Amino acid sequence: MGTILRTVCFLIFCITSVSAVDTFPEKFALGRIDGHVTLSCDTAKPHVTWKHDSEDVEPSELAELKDKQLILHNFQEDQMGNYTCWSEGELLDYTYILLDESWKFIDSVLSCTAETFNCTFKISCRMDQAGFNVFRLRNKRDDSSWVQRSEDGFFYLTHSTNPYAEEAKQLEVIGEAVSSSDRYFNISHSFYLRDIIKPGSPQINMSKKSITVRPPASWAKPESYYPLEHEIQCRKRDDGKEVSCNLNGTNKVPDGMSHVRGRCRDLLLLSQWSDWTPWQNVRKGRKKKQKSKNGTKQD
Ligand SMILES: *[C@@H]1O[C@H](CO)[C@@H](O)[C@H](O)[C@H]1NC(C)=O
Ligand SMILES: *[C@@H]1O[C@H](CO)[C@@H](O)[C@H](O)[C@H]1NC(C)=O
Ligand SMILES: *[C@@H]1O[C@H](CO)[C@@H](O)[C@H](O)[C@H]1NC(C)=O
Ligand SMILES: *[C@@H]1O[C@H](CO)[C@@H](O)[C@H](O)[C@H]1NC(C)=O
Ligand SMILES: *[C@@H]1O[C@H](CO)[C@@H](O)[C@H](O)[C@H]1NC(C)=O
Ligand SMILES: *[C@@H]1O[C@H](CO)[C@@H](O)[C@H](O)[C@H]1NC(C)=O
Repeated sequence: MGTILRTVCFLIFCITSVSAVDTFPEKFALGRIDGHVTLSCDTAKPHVTWKHDSEDVEPSELAELKDKQLILHNFQEDQMGNYTCWSEGELLDYTYILLDESWKFIDSVLSCTAETFNCTFKISCRMDQAGFNVFRLRNKRDDSSWVQRSEDGFFYLTHSTNPYAEEAKQLEVIGEAVSSSDRYFNISHSFYLRDIIKPGSPQINMSKKSITVRPPASWAKPESYYPLEHEIQCRKRDDGKEVSCNLNGTNKVPDGMSHVRGRCRDLLLLSQWSDWTPWQNVRKGRKKKQKSKNGTKQD
């Protein structure tokens, strides 16, 4: 029975993949095809032996054993996986070897925006790449720790930028990814905070036909120092068409509109536009409508 089980396990684990990662290994090293990889065993023991997954590593032209080090020459894909070092049957240390594919990727797989200049708000970043399933990001300039993806798909990074001072040094965000087939890449994205500003949506208050647009609550204060530019769109009542709704300094929504929405951007930086607010209803001016219908007064 034991032998059968072992054979089955052997078949499953050895014929598919011996081991695979679904998170970042605590200790890993990177290998590139045809390159070499040096592993060190962290121990006081003078002599150690090595295992690659469950196989003993025999010294050869390609696997050099040197004191507490294992040097793999002419690295190939079948050498990825978990390397453990042992002495007298005792497990001492391990290093997981991933295949480094960083050369394949450009920084467009990583993008970030910031809602405001204040360090009390986090930077939101996205990172994605088909074939890779685990990602993590960190702000290298401020030496912060790794951040995992949150449930809404974004990575939220803290930063130290002070809204009142010019930023002397760019932020550097580092992203790392691993795949379930033991592939790895990292990428670096550098920017000034001012280059990634994307304000939150403005606050729109509709009262009958008067519209009041205020900065998003997260926006830097005072408003005079951090001016925003707004864009208002209306939806026509008759055909539902969306039209630009320049209010020309008034706060009255033109007639015949059923809905309004707005967005904003930093007027001085001409930053990215915020997302649009949801559409808001414009209440019909009932009295006026009736009047215009029976012709006593044109609205
Ligand atoms: C590698 O092996 C060590 C020792 O058995 C273990 O603690 C570690 O979790 C393994 N790493 C991976 C990523 O499988
Ligand atoms: C990214 O990985 C390379 C190996 O490909 C390494 O030399 C480099 O230090 C890493 N960069 C960062 C910022 O972690
Ligand atoms: C919206 O505007 C009305 C009328 O000016 C005011 O009474 C109300 O408090 C405002 N609501 C908000 C949420 O600002
Ligand atoms: C930054 O945020 C803090 C806390 O929310 C606030 O007290 C401060 O006024 C903000 N600074 C600016 C410039 O908006
Ligand atoms: C604002 O001005 C433009 C051009 O003068 C005009 O076409 C438009 O209808 C005006 N919008 C409103 C809401 O009055
Ligand atoms: C127009 O409508 C108003 C309000 O309903 C009404 O008092 C008035 O008599 C109407 N006039 C005509 C000419 O129908």
